[in-house]
Amino acid sequence: MGVASRVVVLASGRGSNLKAICASAQAATSKNYEVVGVVSDKPDCGAVAFAQSQDIATTVVPFDKQSPRETWDRGLSEAIAKFRPDWVVLAGFMRVLGRDTVDAFAGRMINIHPSLLPSFRGLHAVRQALEAGVRITGCTVHWVDRGVDTGGIVGQAAVPVRGDDDESSLGQRIHQAEHRLLPAVLDKLSGAPVHVAVETPMMIL
Ligand code: GRF
Repeated sequence: MGVASRVVVLASGRGSNLKAICASAQAATSKNYEVVGVVSDKPDCGAVAFAQSQDIATTVVPFDKQSPRETWDRGLSEAIAKFRPDWVVLAGFMRVLGRDTVDAFAGRMINIHPSLLPSFRGLHAVRQALEAGVRITGCTVHWVDRGVDTGGIVGQAAVPVRGDDDESSLGQRIHQAEHRLLPAVLDKLSGAPVHVAVETPMMIL
């Protein structure tokens, strides 16, 4: 068995994707990857609380409106680098990264977004999908580049839209799909054999 890949997760919110990644890593018969650190801009978020409950190291790099953005970005980049990650995962990190961080981890950093990109970039992707009247939406894992939700696609999972869906119900099913897609992508990046089930939600890596 090879050495587990070192994964650092960046999160600002409740951290359900972080939990899914950790649960999948723990359940795996052979350990493909391990979450070695969580970096956040929000000291009180669910992701940080969960990491602490699991004895996963956390670093908080708060955003300070009074300081130059580049200073924050450099601090963020250094905080991530200290964990010596093989892969960096943005899972609900709610700030746009600066060049230092994007360039330092280019080709090693992925983001999960709640739409089938390139449709519905940016915030409120679920609402945008409902307003557009699409019948199928989903989630995308993509490489992080200097744009917002513009990097190359690594994997996607499709979620059908129901006639009675609102933002909350559709958002919940997309979240469930994210919780399957992200661990599968990390398994794949870590070199594990991945068996993708073609079912609902359909997942393509
Ligand atoms: C997810 O919907 C993800 O697509 C988006 O932020 C949300 C994070 O959710 N980028 P959680 O904090 O992992 O529950």
